[in-house]
Amino acid sequence: MTPRTILILYSLPHFLLPDGSVDVSSPKSVLGRLQAVKKALASRGHRVKVMEMKENVSPMVGRILRSKAELIFNLCEEFRGQSRLEMNVAALLELLNVPFSGSSSLVLGLSQDKAKTKSILAHYGVPTPAYVVWSPGESPSVTHLKFPLIVKPLKEDASLGIDNDALVKNSASLLRQAEKIHQSLHQPALVEEYIEGRELNVSILGNEDPQILPISEIDFSTLPPHLPRICGYDAKWVETTPEFNHTVPLCPALLLPRLEKWVREVALLSYRLMDCRDYARVDIRLSPDGTPYVLEINANPDISPDAGMPRSAAAAGLSYPQLIDRIAELAFSRSQRFRGAAESKPHE
Ligand SMILES: Nc1ncnc2c1ncn2[C@@H]1O[C@H](COP(=O)(O)OP(=O)(O)O)[C@@H](O)[C@H]1O
Ligand SMILES: [Mg+2]
Repeated sequence: MTPRTILILYSLPHFLLPDGSVDVSSPKSVLGRLQAVKKALASRGHRVKVMEMKENVSPMVGRILRSKAELIFNLCEEFRGQSRLEMNVAALLELLNVPFSGSSSLVLGLSQDKAKTKSILAHYGVPTPAYVVWSPGESPSVTHLKFPLIVKPLKEDASLGIDNDALVKNSASLLRQAEKIHQSLHQPALVEEYIEGRELNVSILGNEDPQILPISEIDFSTLPPHLPRICGYDAKWVETTPEFNHTVPLCPALLLPRLEKWVREVALLSYRLMDCRDYARVDIRLSPDGTPYVLEINANPDISPDAGMPRSAAAAGLSYPQLIDRIAELAFSRSQRFRGAAESKPHE
């Protein structure tokens, strides 16, 4: 797109997880991603500025407005180290009326609550695993759910709080795992039927006419048989583990045409139902009968060069700088259309 002044706004995660353990995933990857996005935008001719979203909000407001950016590239995944405040950064940008990339505050907040997302999807007939939300101090009935179940935090991402014990086969381990999430992450647990089968990631780019990028699959075939076939925290982040080394992404995934069509339809419908903007990734598991079950929608998916979305983009022939430029272009033209519409509207 035409060169623009783009401000990359990013936030740094806290070094420790809520349970006090060191977060090996985030700080390194946040800075790596920031540098990669900066380089990509600069290589496409944009004037790039970078700003950390600091905890003291009032001076931030002035700094953002004074930057005179034509677009903010929003890389904030948390505020004050809390991912639940990710939406509030977007909300601040909305109040300041500055164009920014990615989904609105509402969509970022909603998609972070996996159960609320699932209830919307289920309402419109999108397959998603049966579930129960288990809040601290409660003992909900799970009799309508079929073991094995998976227990994960209701409002996290990046597989935080998902270890090999997350897959439970009986009530005793279910209780143990739900309590572990309550105590370590101070939030409800999402108890979901486990879908045994292939895992697919569908990345989508665009607004009026979204483009579905080639589907990526996590290959579990070399994972030692005693380990559950899930992409937990170790599989995503701890490079020395068998989980990391034996959950290999393959793109494009080999799917029979009819199945691929169904997966694409389910992913696109989910993207639209959630009002995602510019880019997002839908995580899906295929049940043994071939039904694509949506696990979650990542309205602000990882766009580090080695992450799923850039991998799918590369399979579609889009280089990393082209992908990042395209996201910026989508965000910019969307905001221009919105402004144009607002300006041409007669005063009421
Ligand atoms: N219902 C499920 N059935 C099978 N595997 C699941 C299910 N829910 C989660 N998983 C596994 O756990 C991983 C992380 O779950 P996900 O819901 O995508 O949360 P996150 O936001 O942490 O990525 C998935 O990639 C998948 O491997
Ligand atoms: Mg996921």
